[in-house]
Amino acid sequence: MSGILEVSGEWLALREPEDADARSRDLALAAAAMLPKGPIVVHDLGSGTGSMMRWLAPLLPGPQTWILHDWNAGLLERAIDGVRPSDRDNAAISVYSQTGNLANLRPTDLAGSSLVTVSALLDVLTSRETHAIVNACVGARSPALFALSVTGDVRLSPRDERDAAFEHAFNAHQLREADGRQHLGRYGAPIARGLFAQAGWHVRPSTTVWRLDHRRPRLLSEWFHGRVDAAVEQDPGLRANATGYRQLRTSQIERGELAAHVSHVDLLAWPRR
Ligand SMILES: C[S@@+](CC[C@H](N)C(=O)[O-])C[C@H]1O[C@@H](n2cnc3c(N)ncnc32)[C@H](O)[C@@H]1O
Repeated sequence: MSGILEVSGEWLALREPEDADARSRDLALAAAAMLPKGPIVVHDLGSGTGSMMRWLAPLLPGPQTWILHDWNAGLLERAIDGVRPSDRDNAAISVYSQTGNLANLRPTDLAGSSLVTVSALLDVLTSRETHAIVNACVGARSPALFALSVTGDVRLSPRDERDAAFEHAFNAHQLREADGRQHLGRYGAPIARGLFAQAGWHVRPSTTVWRLDHRRPRLLSEWFHGRVDAAVEQDPGLRANATGYRQLRTSQIERGELAAHVSHVDLLAWPRR
């Protein structure tokens, strides 16, 4: 894991219920309708602890085999040891893991795939990694459901005059180079979409939104403070403003008065005949 920015399992667990509410069921059901009859194999790329599998497996027919890919072996271990979902007929599914860098994914790694999924991944990938995963899907002719890519559009309510400066710095932070990797941030989804289109594939997008408010105060708080931390790291000139901004937003969260709409996009891509 050296040189790799680690995602924490606690953060993935905290966001899992909101991710489940936000992902497009319409696209998931459209993907289900494309599956062949008989056993199916789903590759989940950048799976973390398996949140996408737990959401999607019960919407798909069986028998199902999932192959979870991540470069973080600790997260994969949690996925394998954790609670397994059932398929839509309540039958058990099989789950395997594959540790490695998605930059090295090849079409042969996805041979026999019925569906490739990702969730909350494209913004943290590099251009090389995104090319590799789209190229692998296209080469294997496997439909792809890429869920929950951030678009960079966030609406906080009530508004505050400091929102724009923190948003600007946060979005720049999303595009930073870290550990020699230039993240795609909010450009990740449009780039993946363009690559599939360039390969002649159909792509169907769906707008998906995190609606954070009094129902999930811990997630709202962690998300907000993580966003301010990143903004200040990107633009240390914001530090002076950050304390008062945090105090205001923290008291609003405690009183159940703050809401955030965080826009995402889901994509379903599939080959023309
Ligand atoms: C934001 S997390 C999302 C995890 C999971 N899909 C979910 O929705 O909970 C991104 C995941 O992608 C993995 N990841 C990021 N870049 C990767 C790469 N180049 N190769 C393999 N895994 C990668 C991280 O380790 C992390 O588990």
